[in-house]
Amino acid sequence: MSSAELTRVSNFQKEAEAYLPGGVAGSGRFNPSLGYSLFLKRAEGPRLYDLDGKEYIDFNLSHGACFLGHGHPAIRKAIEEALDIGVLSGYETEYTADLAKTVIDMIPCAEMVRLGNSGTEGTMLTLRLARAFTGKKKMLKFWGHFHGLHDYVMYNAHAPQTPQKPGELVPLVRESAGIPEELDSLVLVVPWKDEEALEKAVRAEGDQIAAIIMEPINYNSGCIVADKPYMEFVRDLAARNNIVLIYDEVLSAFRTGPSCGQGYYGVTPDLCVISKAVANGIPAAIVAGRKDIMVMNTPIGDVLHSGTYCGNLVSVMAARACLAEITKTGFYDHIYAVADKLYSGLAGLFEGAGVPARVQGLGARFGIHFGFTEEVKTYGDTLKHDGQMATAFLRACANRGVYFHSYGRIAAGHHGFSASHTLEDIDEALNRIESALGDMRRGETI
Ligand SMILES: Cc1ncc(COP(=O)(O)O)c(C=O)c1O
Repeated sequence: MSSAELTRVSNFQKEAEAYLPGGVAGSGRFNPSLGYSLFLKRAEGPRLYDLDGKEYIDFNLSHGACFLGHGHPAIRKAIEEALDIGVLSGYETEYTADLAKTVIDMIPCAEMVRLGNSGTEGTMLTLRLARAFTGKKKMLKFWGHFHGLHDYVMYNAHAPQTPQKPGELVPLVRESAGIPEELDSLVLVVPWKDEEALEKAVRAEGDQIAAIIMEPINYNSGCIVADKPYMEFVRDLAARNNIVLIYDEVLSAFRTGPSCGQGYYGVTPDLCVISKAVANGIPAAIVAGRKDIMVMNTPIGDVLHSGTYCGNLVSVMAARACLAEITKTGFYDHIYAVADKLYSGLAGLFEGAGVPARVQGLGARFGIHFGFTEEVKTYGDTLKHDGQMATAFLRACANRGVYFHSYGRIAAGHHGFSASHTLEDIDEALNRIESALGDMRRGETI
């Protein structure tokens, strides 16, 4: 993007700021590395076109929602079917139970299913269910794991940005103003993959902990992965202490395969939340899990869950169409072929350019950890992330027509590709990124 073009895009940002705080509908739209949010004219497959007509190969995909690619024909057709029926919310159709049955067939923990509209709503419901089921109040989460924006979970998704003692609780940090400090008494945070810290916390307060919630693949912190023994350890500890184990698969769902993160590890939680990729950009969230917990939902049980838009027909039809695509033969062969080419290609480019950056990918999403060449194994490791280098890279890439979103300077964040990215698209993206790295080297980053 030339300086003149950048100025035009910035002007849209400025105009929007007069009417919208920060010029955006939600703060995650703003790209802090670029200093503006992308204002799009349209998007198709793996490509975005901004208001100036500039084209980008997209590695954000609506924060991971558009797993099939933008404007996918099967999703479009599904939306049209919903339009023909009458854009229904607040009524049931034959299609909701059909979607639920598909989810139950695909996802190990799913014995029953509830529908909502966002990941935030989904994690909120799982916690309410866990509290009602166990009769306990506290929730344990992990440092660096993000579970949406409701008050109960807005702790330590990033902070503190200081090293923590292994084997200990992490000091609580509310990630937003406006969260009552009284809620602190209901939250415990420990480092992920630290068995001692978790065991100690459960030994001390297990009789008060209703739920352990985690991202089974910690994509939000740049794709940090656990292993089966650790996941089994948590599973077992939760079961022995009457604690509901919740996998927040809002971002991990379907990235590694049709059975999600839980299928990847072969470890089954009590409840899970699936969102984003499930309906390819149409708002939908699915809470699924054990029948004895799920039947606590109203109108059978007394855990109140409902909403005007829960299971609205557009979302249901989009999700059915999306899952039909995901389960087609060869779908994941393509995902893994693209993953191999992209992740090894990127790593090769960084090495060739002498840029210390670790590409960590699993399935269709990945992180780029600047300042690292070794594997980033814990959230604590990410504290050494070189935010300045990340910003220079993201700006240089945007300039050359490759879009990576930024979630701030403090962590790697998450990137990804869609099923619509072809191997040729990846070749083209890698060529553009190579040019971007050349620009960075010459100090030509804007
Ligand atoms: C793991 C995880 N949980 C929950 C959420 C919140 O989902 P939503 O933005 O749909 O409310 C997100 C969003 O990025 C997420 O990545």
